Amino acid sequence: MSQQASSSLISPKVIQALRSARYVAVLTGAGVSAESGVPTFREAQMGLWAKYNPEALATPQAFQRNPTLVWEWYAWRRQLVGQAKANAGHLALAELEKLVPRFTLITQNVDELHQQAGSSSVIELHGNLNRTICFSERKVVESWPETGDIPPRCPNCGSLLRPDVVWFGETLPAEALSAAFNAAEQCDLFMSIGTSALVHPAASLPVAALERGAILVEINPDTTPLTSHATYALRGPAGQVLPQLLEALPEANLSPNHQNYD
Ligand code: OAD
Repeated sequence: MSQQASSSLISPKVIQALRSARYVAVLTGAGVSAESGVPTFREAQMGLWAKYNPEALATPQAFQRNPTLVWEWYAWRRQLVGQAKANAGHLALAELEKLVPRFTLITQNVDELHQQAGSSSVIELHGNLNRTICFSERKVVESWPETGDIPPRCPNCGSLLRPDVVWFGETLPAEALSAAFNAAEQCDLFMSIGTSALVHPAASLPVAALERGAILVEINPDTTPLTSHATYALRGPAGQVLPQLLEALPEANLSPNHQNYD
């Protein structure tokens, strides 16, 4: 992955588009938390889990086959995320929310780092790692007796407990999904940040925004299937590009001498 130097300035056209936007919707993915030390899904995994394909672990069938392995994998991620701090990209998005007339933040991340940075009303499409539910009843379980079972069991019905995250083959929370599509269809500028744009239905959101005539801004050090459709593709890490965007926003400098990302 190329990490672009932070000294380049963002194109004045992008800044102008952002300044003119009445409604900005943002979709984030694992890349936005990469600079906080949280591994992404489709890039190299490190350590103990290098031999496991995360996608192969994130299914109900995988849990039924080997609940201990799946619980442990999520426990490892929960521990990583517990130590992680929101980075400059998360913080810039929390600030951006205050600067634009209307703003919706949609995330595929389950790490709560947007909330930690101060973003309000985050739409969590793929659940939340810090919540636990009963595999059978689907209800949130706050505490359970420490019996040493891995995974622990539901204090109500005795079924296995699992993380409250969306696994492949499962439906997304209906309310969150509908709010996300409403935002995509109503916004006039949509930003896709730190996502490989491969996993649907989240990956359909930028497309829905484009179809309604929104400007599409992508922030990613690498290309994705979305890049060629983006109005502006800003190649760089979110923790560098977003603060630059934010810094330039209040007083867009339209001089032609800027080195552009797009
Ligand atoms: P991926 O791992 O598929 O993609 C991460 C993206 O972030 C890649 O396109 C990277 O190039 C980009 N990236 C890496 N570092 C970055 C940085 N510093 N700044 C900006 N971008 C950076 O993660 P997602 O697209 O989030 O779903 O994956 C989508 C879903 O697939 C996840 O929510 C998860 C996964 O399986 C479920 O668990 C249901």
